[in-house]
Amino acid sequence: MMLGAQFYHRNWNIPKMVRSFSVATKQAVTLTVESAHGNIKPMPREVKKIGVTPIVVGSTGGTKQSKLMAEAHNHMPQGVAENYRYWGDEATVFVSKSKGCVLTDVDGKEFTDFRLGYGPIILGYCDERVDRAVCDEITNRGVISGFSTALDAEVIKQVKRLCPQIEKMRFANSGTEAVMGAVRTARGFTGRTKVAIVEGGFHGLQDEVMWKANLEGWNMRSDTTPEVIPFGAGQRPNTAVCCNPTGLTLLSLNNFQMLDEYFHQYGHLTAAVMIEPIIGNAGSIAATKEWLQHLRDLCTKHGTMLIFDEVKCGFRVAKGGAQELYGIYADLTTYAKAMGNGYPVACFGGRKDVMDVIGSFKGGVVHGGTFTANMIAISAAHATLDILESTDALATCDRVGTDIMAVLGRVFDAHNVQHTFSGPPAMFGIHFAKDVPQNYRDWRKEEYELYGKFAWNLIKYGVMLEPDSREPWFICEAHQTMDLQWLEDVAMRSMTEACAAHAASR
Ligand SMILES: Cc1ncc(COP(=O)(O)O)c(C=O)c1O
Repeated sequence: MMLGAQFYHRNWNIPKMVRSFSVATKQAVTLTVESAHGNIKPMPREVKKIGVTPIVVGSTGGTKQSKLMAEAHNHMPQGVAENYRYWGDEATVFVSKSKGCVLTDVDGKEFTDFRLGYGPIILGYCDERVDRAVCDEITNRGVISGFSTALDAEVIKQVKRLCPQIEKMRFANSGTEAVMGAVRTARGFTGRTKVAIVEGGFHGLQDEVMWKANLEGWNMRSDTTPEVIPFGAGQRPNTAVCCNPTGLTLLSLNNFQMLDEYFHQYGHLTAAVMIEPIIGNAGSIAATKEWLQHLRDLCTKHGTMLIFDEVKCGFRVAKGGAQELYGIYADLTTYAKAMGNGYPVACFGGRKDVMDVIGSFKGGVVHGGTFTANMIAISAAHATLDILESTDALATCDRVGTDIMAVLGRVFDAHNVQHTFSGPPAMFGIHFAKDVPQNYRDWRKEEYELYGKFAWNLIKYGVMLEPDSREPWFICEAHQTMDLQWLEDVAMRSMTEACAAHAASR
């Protein structure tokens, strides 16, 4: 039986786990876990420890799970295809089936899923409308040719109808790649190097944006700025110092003074400020409209490109993403996850004059990729965007998300747990705090350990989510079929047990 699993967030590692429109994260996980056999797997050196909460996540005593985990250790570092899937030897989930809003693990246990693969599922798993379109495309026309197809421009026209700030666009295969393309394009257009991002955000796996605020080593009662540290080993030695004219700078969300000082000193050197306006990697903590407008104005004044990384909120929080909600528009935008309902498709685009620096002409910005705009990706995007544009799927997600927040609010009230929600209903964060957090540093001051205990209990009772309050609850259209009374009962039980365990641990 597993005694402890420890979680790692992409941004930060906390002891014991957890995770606000105000607008929340991705995280990952683990470390050591005492297995059924009593052996402790060493924590990889590059990963820092953050949380331990006793729990059995997957099927209790799941023999197929344990066998698959043991086998996987022979073939993959940490036994997983990518770091963030490892939840400990006993708790790492092996999925056998996914349909609608339900995941089934290899031992037959069913979970109503609010994790949704870190956000890409917007309609539901195995959506027949999208799957049929993809099957038809690849059966009749093929997967890849390395040449253009008529569907490329058709998908871009769909995006342009939903997102009016997009004048020209290019495709990519992942959020990481889309961010890479947007940042390079910003540099190519401005001729500058420096980039600024915001604490608590996550922009994928390229070295230069994998720097974070070290909240673990930060005195939250001080006025000091958290140290900037790399996500892990192996990254290029840093460029991440504010005073470095070519390096990366981390800004704190909704902090006007910091923004003004930054632009005063470095505005003329800065190619881009990149931001998740609703931080899908920090509990859906959201920029205020005033701060975001100020950022927009400063970027315009200094000739700096404003990049909105809408990999998580694009085609989810509204048809036109966060920019539709705010009415504030970026020069360049990245989209990925919900764009293809789980199929791997991404893109970046924006102002025509900026995007037109990309090209195979002398001095052009390079963008390419063998798998770019393959027919699986493009047909999935075409079908998904068609449904999002022509149906009320996103309104359904909003309604269901609102209902779920009401259910959870009643549960927290019944246990006298101070809480706030942040973010839009289709991607909301839960914060055990009096006030909605204004930035990532505020999140550090919350009762995230209690949230972690609550979340692990939910998982135990068949509700799948990331047990870290930095990851929002993702809603898909298929959640409309779920039984809210069941959720309330399960949440009530999970919270009662969490409060008892929390009190006992103090
Ligand atoms: C805001 C944001 N940008 C970029 C990425 C990277 O996307 P991918 O995992 O598809 O490379 C993520 C992933 O979670 C993300 O949340």
